[in-house]
Amino acid sequence: MRVVVSIGGSVLAPDLAPGRVRGHAAVIDELVAAGHEVAVVVGGGGVARDYIGTARELGASEYDLDVLGIAVTRLNARLLVAALRSEASPEPAVEHAEARASLRRGEVAVMGGTVPGHTTDAVAALLGESVESDLVVFATSVPGVFSADPKRDDTAERFDRLSAAELVDIIASIELSAGSNAPVDLLAAKVLQRSGLRAIVLDGTDPERIGAAVEDDGSVEGTEVVPDA
Ligand code: UTP
Repeated sequence: MRVVVSIGGSVLAPDLAPGRVRGHAAVIDELVAAGHEVAVVVGGGGVARDYIGTARELGASEYDLDVLGIAVTRLNARLLVAALRSEASPEPAVEHAEARASLRRGEVAVMGGTVPGHTTDAVAALLGESVESDLVVFATSVPGVFSADPKRDDTAERFDRLSAAELVDIIASIELSAGSNAPVDLLAAKVLQRSGLRAIVLDGTDPERIGAAVEDDGSVEGTEVVPDA
């Protein structure tokens, strides 16, 4: 299977603990050993938010804040490259074409963000589109897509399965409410929809869940996004 794995920065490196990065790299290595083609997009997480917060107070433009966020995603991507045993380019790819070429050489493609204006969720969806992946795994810090914010609403229920159109509607309504934190961004949802990609949104803090989702062993709890009928 050709798979794109999007690992949130808050999942991979919330505190820069080497064991956590090693655990995620080991799962990627196992997937490669099992014959899968794997591309990984790494996010910036809390470290990116801290830098962005400080720079915003210093008066940086939104564009420059995004550039700062992208720099942190690439730092996190370097951590993953350092821990991988599989063949991977030592420099994280800075654009999709480079990641695609890396995958074609038989390497694990690793990248962070690309350009201002979106997040690494969208980068992962676009990479999935460009390499025609069979699956995009969004390894986030939440266990899927919910009917409401589970931190604020006890009645919130996780969707086991959504069509891409349903995902777009849900994310659009989450992004409209102040202070909300959507599990994937709207552009990512729209890219999944237009290209008919299959995706899974899951809690990636335990990296074994990422492996289980790719191997489809039935144990994974999360939200599966399937192409519109
Ligand atoms: P993330 O993808 O980590 O955003 O990029 P996030 O929503 O904070 O994700 P989690 O919490 O890790 O899941 C961090 C920031 O970097 C900029 C944006 O400002 C984003 O908020 N960025 C990232 C871009 O501008 N372009 C990109 O391609 C990627």
